[in-house]
Amino acid sequence: MRRKIIAGNWKMNMLPNEAIKFIDEIAPLVKDTKNEVVLCVPYIDLFYSLLTAQNTNIKIGAQNMHQEEKGAYTGEVSAEMLKSIGVEYVIIGHSERRQYYNETDKSVNEKIKSALKNELKPIVCVGETLEQKEEGKTEEIITKQVELALEGLEKEQVEKVIVAYEPIWAIGTGKTATKEDANSNIKCIRNKIADIYGQNTADKVIILYGGSVKASNSKELFEMSDIDGALVGGASLKVEEFSKIVNYQ
Ligand code: 13P
Repeated sequence: MRRKIIAGNWKMNMLPNEAIKFIDEIAPLVKDTKNEVVLCVPYIDLFYSLLTAQNTNIKIGAQNMHQEEKGAYTGEVSAEMLKSIGVEYVIIGHSERRQYYNETDKSVNEKIKSALKNELKPIVCVGETLEQKEEGKTEEIITKQVELALEGLEKEQVEKVIVAYEPIWAIGTGKTATKEDANSNIKCIRNKIADIYGQNTADKVIILYGGSVKASNSKELFEMSDIDGALVGGASLKVEEFSKIVNYQ
């Protein structure tokens, strides 16, 4: 059985004092869950969040990293740097980074390799645009993104990768994919992984859904066969809402 992961992506929100307050408030509300609770916070909040989340079941992640180990990359942060302060997870290839910061399938692949080398758990985002969906290209787009993201990895490494299927048209729009569509697209990703790495590996890969997940739609999504949790944007900024998503059972 794959465990469920409920991960928040705060994007460019929350000052350190707000992060501390949020974690202090949510920790007692989610302490009894069997699900993995992750908060992916801005770099500036990482250290405060890690300290505040000590002795809780909340794990802390970053929202991006650079693929190189070190060097002349002004403004960037490496996997080793994240690992050194106790970060466990890192989002890689979010559509906002692909769209606004020229993140490519190649850089996504390099970042995943560097994250795994440094024992970070990568949450790798894939998803189609509205135009691609309307042209009936969803499956082709998302399976290609997954194939290129995982290129050159060993089976044992693929098993450690978390995939987040986030249709771009569903992000921040209030439009959620239907539970059937989300499940069938996630299945399609799993089948692609099975084609390349074998069914056994594919069955172990945790695949999340993201895009306007909220307390009112999370339960029905999480009950689907192939949806192993969620990557939550806006609703992860509210203590009560996010705790309800975590405690959906
Ligand atoms: P929303 O939940 O705000 O739609 O954002 C989804 C997302 O981009 C998570 O990474």
